[in-house]
Formats: sequence, C-alpha cells, structure tokens
Amino acid sequence: MALTPFFLLFTVLSLPSLPISATVSDAYPSIPGTVPIDGGFTFTDAPKPIRREVYGEGKIFDISHRYTPEMPSWDSTEGIGRFLWLAASMKNGSLANNSEMKFPTHTGTHVDSPGHFYDEYLDAGFDVDSLDLQVLNGPALLVDVPRDTNITAQVMKSLHIPKGVRRVLFRTLNTDRRLMFKKEFDTSYVGFMKDGAQWLVDNTDIKLVGIDYLSAAAYEDLGPSHLVFLKDRETILVEGLKLDDVKAGLYSVHCLPLRLVGAEGSPIRCILID
Ligand SMILES: *[C@@H]1O[C@H](CO)[C@@H](O)[C@H](O)[C@H]1NC(C)=O
Ligand SMILES: *[C@@H]1O[C@H](CO)[C@@H](O)[C@H](O)[C@H]1NC(C)=O
Ligand SMILES: *[C@@H]1O[C@H](CO)[C@@H](O)[C@H](O)[C@H]1NC(C)=O
Repeated sequence: MALTPFFLLFTVLSLPSLPISATVSDAYPSIPGTVPIDGGFTFTDAPKPIRREVYGEGKIFDISHRYTPEMPSWDSTEGIGRFLWLAASMKNGSLANNSEMKFPTHTGTHVDSPGHFYDEYLDAGFDVDSLDLQVLNGPALLVDVPRDTNITAQVMKSLHIPKGVRRVLFRTLNTDRRLMFKKEFDTSYVGFMKDGAQWLVDNTDIKLVGIDYLSAAAYEDLGPSHLVFLKDRETILVEGLKLDDVKAGLYSVHCLPLRLVGAEGSPIRCILID
C-alpha cells in the first residue's frame, strides 16, 4: 500500500494524546490551529503495544498462532526462518515502512482446500477462495481428545459428539506438548488415522475439523486421512490452532482465510467468541 502524505497527516492528527516532536517544511506546511508536522515524527514517550490472547476477560479467545521465524515448518528442524523483511524502510529514507513476506501457505494456523490432496480439484478451481464461510463461521465445540492415542474410529465414537454439530475443534496431546511453539517439526504429533477420518465423515455432521498441529492427519496416515476428509469437498480442515487455556465447550468460531486465488492453502485467522 502506498501511503500518501495525507494518510500520515491523518494518522498523526488522530492521535492527539501522543507527544510529537515536529518541524514544518515546505512539503508539509502546518495547518492553522494544529500541531505542525513534517510528515515524520518521533514518539518521545512511546506507548507499549498491547498483545492479547484473550479479550474482554473471556469474551474472545484468539486461537491463531503468531507468525515468527521460530514457528515450525513442515519436515524441517529449522522453523520457518526469516519470512518478513522491510523492503522499504523509513530509516533509509522511504516515506513509509513497507514489508514483504514469503512462506508456505500451510504455515502456522492455516486452512486446506480440497485441492490440497486432489490435483483434479485444484485444476477445477477448488482453491481457498472457494471455501464456504458459513462452514468456517458458526457454533463450534471444543473437545478434548484422550491423550494416549491418535484419533481413530474408536476415539471418535468415544467422544459422543452429538448429531447436528457441524464444527469441532479437537484439542490433543499436541497442545500439552506445545508442539506449535517448537521450532523442530515433530512427526509424532497426534492426528486423525484413516479410520478416524472415515468414521467422522460417515457418522457425524462435522464439516469443520480443527486441530492443534500442522496437519489434521496423523503423519503415519498423512495421505489416506487427507483423501478421506477432502474427497467430498465439504469438509474443511483448519490446522495449527492455538487451543491453550480455553475451556472445552461450545463457542462461536470465526475463521477467515485469505482470498488466494489458485492456492490450496492459506493462513487463517480464527477466534472463538464465548
Ligand atoms: C519502520 O522501519 C524502521 C526501520 O527503517 C523500523 O526500525 C521501525 O520499527 C519501523 N516502524 C514500524 C512502525 O514498523
Ligand atoms: C538500509 O540500506 C542499507 C544499504 O542498502 C542496508 O544495508 C540496510 O539493511 C537498510 N536498512 C533497512 C532497515 O532497511
Ligand atoms: C500418533 O501417531 C504418530 C505417527 O503418526 C506416532 O508417532 C505417535 O506416537 C502417535 N501418538 C499417540 C499418542 O499414540
């Protein structure tokens, strides 16, 4: 985005309580009755940004992970590494700071489209831009999966998820092991075995499957479980969710992928509203 001087001016003028040191120049003359500015300013007593996981004492939970160089990357021990850089920086004389970024679309909290494991679906246009926002948004159950097992048909049965429930976030041992906070990719994460995925598709109304590591499918059944989930093009997989410190139960989930035309995956921002 190209920032216009007007935008900067507006930003400064709309923060009247911040101390501003400024000079007037021909390019940015002062407006009568306002603090003169020069299009650049420094905070003399810079406020600290607030970073939250929970808003309004439990009204909103942010269940997306922060993107950092240390977050895990598929099949890598190095994390995603440097993925963001300042292509234009004010310290080097640019009018504004402008960053660029590059990372795989299945990084961090992200969503899979049917085209992820079905080439013919991707060719036919079933990309992340075609995902149904009515599946990605609405009432959702956060459930705890027994910690000593991957998600098999037996486990799915034991969870007794009522008919009619369309969105389920599965919290597993992955959360306890804090796998999403570890740089090294870990193949021993918990996910769906093929029979667990099949049981879900055959016996429940679940269309949104959320999980707390980079894949809903267990590593051992990576292909088979994904193929079961994505075959009907109705089930949406949201992976890499941050489900720490949220009580199991019923919430309203809100997930919004980027409209990446032609992409089979996308970063996604998800929140739970109580
Ligand atoms: C703008 O870029 C400079 C580096 O040129 C950086 O130190 C500063 O933090 C950036 N400001 C913002 C608001 O990103
Ligand atoms: C500014 O430019 C110099 C020289 O091109 C470069 O080495 C430096 O990394 C740049 N700094 C920032 C913050 O972009
Ligand atoms: C889940 O499956 C993976 C292989 O995909 C395995 O390494 C791991 O031990 C299993 N986890 C549990 C809790 O059974």
